[in-house]
Amino acid sequence: MRALVTGGTGFLGAALLHRLAAEGARLRVIVRPGSDATILDRIDAAYPQAALQRVACGLDAGADGLDAALDGIDVVFHLASAMSGGTEAVMRGTLATSAALLDALARRPAPPRVVLVGSLAVLDTASLAEGASVDDDTPLEPRPALRDAYTDAKLQQERMFRDRCARHRIPLVVARPGVLYGPGRITPSTRAGFGPLAGWFLLLGGDNPLPLAHVDNCAAALAWIARHADFAGEACNIVDQPQPGCREYLLRYRAGQRPGLRILPVPAPLGRLAARLLPWLHARSRGRVPLLLSPYRWRSSWRPFRYGSTALARLGFVAPVSADAALASALDAPSE
Ligand SMILES: NC(=O)c1ccc[n+]([C@@H]2O[C@H](COP(=O)([O-])OP(=O)(O)OC[C@H]3O[C@@H](n4cnc5c(N)ncnc54)[C@H](OP(=O)(O)O)[C@@H]3O)[C@@H](O)[C@H]2O)c1
Repeated sequence: MRALVTGGTGFLGAALLHRLAAEGARLRVIVRPGSDATILDRIDAAYPQAALQRVACGLDAGADGLDAALDGIDVVFHLASAMSGGTEAVMRGTLATSAALLDALARRPAPPRVVLVGSLAVLDTASLAEGASVDDDTPLEPRPALRDAYTDAKLQQERMFRDRCARHRIPLVVARPGVLYGPGRITPSTRAGFGPLAGWFLLLGGDNPLPLAHVDNCAAALAWIARHADFAGEACNIVDQPQPGCREYLLRYRAGQRPGLRILPVPAPLGRLAARLLPWLHARSRGRVPLLLSPYRWRSSWRPFRYGSTALARLGFVAPVSADAALASALDAPSE
């Protein structure tokens, strides 16, 4: 298999390149000019048989350079995305990059298969009852503007891929990882709450399951999906099983990484009240109080759900690292 990876210098991209190279794939990576490509040097040295090729291309500058990058490619893993930097940066870094890739794919008479790395955040959890299961067929978020820029961008990205891949007969599968973590990235997600800030963590998620995906398990799942999925537009959530509760994650994080971190648990009724008050305070302060909570965001992100993937189980995927060993390796030894 010859794979093209966008976002290969990122957290998940690096793990994916390792995985693909270890499984014998030959690799080509889109690297934007100015990117820190040390990780690619390491992969090159560890896996010379992967014959890693680099294509210099800032994807948001358009599709130029992508035609040659797609030559001879069997599967494209599209990971490049802006994860932070404000609404405009997130939108542009996610949507312009995707549009450029899709333009280049649509021009090919026989386009390669595409694995789009989307996000679990695009699912409509606000409409679900507490304790409901969130699976691959959970409907998409109908009101992204009430969530956050990242959700909005990833939702538009998934819709754009579904629409254009169907129109141009580009074989597609959408993989939706949960919260990625692993060496170097273990700070508790906002699904657990806010912090650490000045030695405190505001725990909003209580004992809700935290939909984690260890980065190595996620990389293995993506490689597995590329080999086993039908590429008929199906979606696969990627989350480790079983998932720890938010409190459990936080306590382990404190024990291994941040001794002395003070945890302030916010009971759900108090959280719901704060979520009602914050939009009012945000408006009154003319935006100086950040809109971290709202009733809709609370319903979406801080209620208990059971996350899984029937599709991934049907494809026969088994995570290489058990959830417990993954948590132990990431959290129990000091690393940050
Ligand atoms: N992190 C999570 O918890 C999570 C959860 C679910 C889904 N995901 C998805 O997984 C994917 C990877 O996430 P990550 O955490 O690995 O992100 P990351 O570490 O921030 O890496 C993002 C990658 O995208 C590249 N990129 C950004 N803009 C680009 C552009 N204009 N042209 C070319 N490359 C560009 C970056 O290149 P540089 O090295 O030059 O910056 C980097 O390689 C994203 O699609 C994200 O939405 C992440």
